[in-house]
Amino acid sequence: MKAPVRAAPTYPGSGPLGSLPRFRRDPLALLMSGFRDFGDVVRFRLFTRDLVLVAHPNDVRWVLQEHTGNYNKRTRGFEVLRAFLREGLLTSEGDHWLRQRRIAQPAFHRTRIAGFGASMTQATSEMVDRWLTASASEEVDVTTEMMRLTLRIVGEALLSTDVSHEADRVGQALNLTLRRANEAIGRIIPVPDWWPSPANRRLRAAMRTLDDVILEIIAERRAGDADPDDLLSMLMQARDEDTGEGMSDAQLRDEVMTVFLAGQETTALALGWTWYLLSQHASVRHRLHKEIDAVLSGRTPTVSDLPRLGYVERVIKESMRLYPPAWVISRCAIEDDTIGGYRIPAGSIVLLSPYVTHRHPQFWTHPDRFDPDRFDTDRKTDRPPFAHFPFGGGPRQCIGNNFAMLELVLVVTTIAQRCALDLPPGKMVGTRPSITLRAAEPIRMRVSPR
Ligand code: HEM
Repeated sequence: MKAPVRAAPTYPGSGPLGSLPRFRRDPLALLMSGFRDFGDVVRFRLFTRDLVLVAHPNDVRWVLQEHTGNYNKRTRGFEVLRAFLREGLLTSEGDHWLRQRRIAQPAFHRTRIAGFGASMTQATSEMVDRWLTASASEEVDVTTEMMRLTLRIVGEALLSTDVSHEADRVGQALNLTLRRANEAIGRIIPVPDWWPSPANRRLRAAMRTLDDVILEIIAERRAGDADPDDLLSMLMQARDEDTGEGMSDAQLRDEVMTVFLAGQETTALALGWTWYLLSQHASVRHRLHKEIDAVLSGRTPTVSDLPRLGYVERVIKESMRLYPPAWVISRCAIEDDTIGGYRIPAGSIVLLSPYVTHRHPQFWTHPDRFDPDRFDTDRKTDRPPFAHFPFGGGPRQCIGNNFAMLELVLVVTTIAQRCALDLPPGKMVGTRPSITLRAAEPIRMRVSPR
């Protein structure tokens, strides 16, 4: 006989606001504590909204892959991002999303993005040159440096231009948008986008700046003969298989903006957390250096070295297990559903949190320990695929995952080959989750040449 379907247990929260104050203060601690106390499905009451955390990897697969048709992305943070990214891949749905995804997919294929490897190592080498010519024992703000680096890399891959000289303008606009989306999630009463608040006015101005930069580049491309080998060209050339139609300027702008926003900060955060973890685990760093030195003997890494840089890759995967840049993925249930024996009424906001699932003790022994060998492919495990999902999964899985992994391995290798980054002894850095998993303070580290 089938077990009866029950209502999901509710995490205790007092007063009319429920768990909202705690969610705003420390969402990771709240979600972890709900998971520890109530298990794989737990409901949090946040004033007028309920959120249901779903933590078991098979249930994550159910929502993202097997039963994906029953879930849309219409949550509060999504609406704010949508005002900015409009019909771009991250924030569109239905037929429009499917068409755009089909058109864009080949541009992100592993073989096409391999061509960006040289510009990734070039940008990284120039940054390391700058660090090493500065005075000995110079401290760098790793958070800012990684943001600048990934902005330059994604800008060059997209548009063949170094937008990092525009870093302040472009970076500020991206930053404002993410902050605004984050505020909207934590607000008791949402401020509508059309409301002429100072924050909304600043956001609009930032959006216009980015619009101008991107539309200008698209217009130049349409007018001239230049056809650089970048993502924008690939997107401009791409055609719908059925209709033969390409993308309009507005669609191109939405996709370019989306890739900037989705691809820059996430990758920078993964790098920042990786340096943080390496500085605290001397034996892991030692093995990483040994592998890099043995494979490269001092030459600059290229894409063809990747298969022999397996330990670097494992370090990055383990870093994204503990500090997944996209720490939560949310969905809205369209119709009633049942997950793990619990009723999920239509309209429920379902949270899938890589941060929580990546610490599920059933699938990760000593979950808080940094141990890259967990990802050793020679080790047999019966871990289900969604036990580790830093890039999401199912049809809406990150389209840039190969780009990101290529970038992460090349950047980590290029830096670690030439220098070591160290935190001041005893220093710990906490998390400050917004839409992405940021550090609570800038990660400042001492650079020493190797
Ligand atoms: C470490 C770096 C990255 C992480 C952790 C990451 C994570 C994610 C996740 C979790 C999603 C799915 C969101 C959802 O299902 O709601 C996503 C979607 C997306 N990502 Fe990434 N991402 C990274 C880098 C990139 C890069 C480098 C690019 C582009 C070059 C990119 C472009 C996108 C786009 C366009 C989508 C929307 C895909 C769709 O819905 O069809 N991401 N990313």
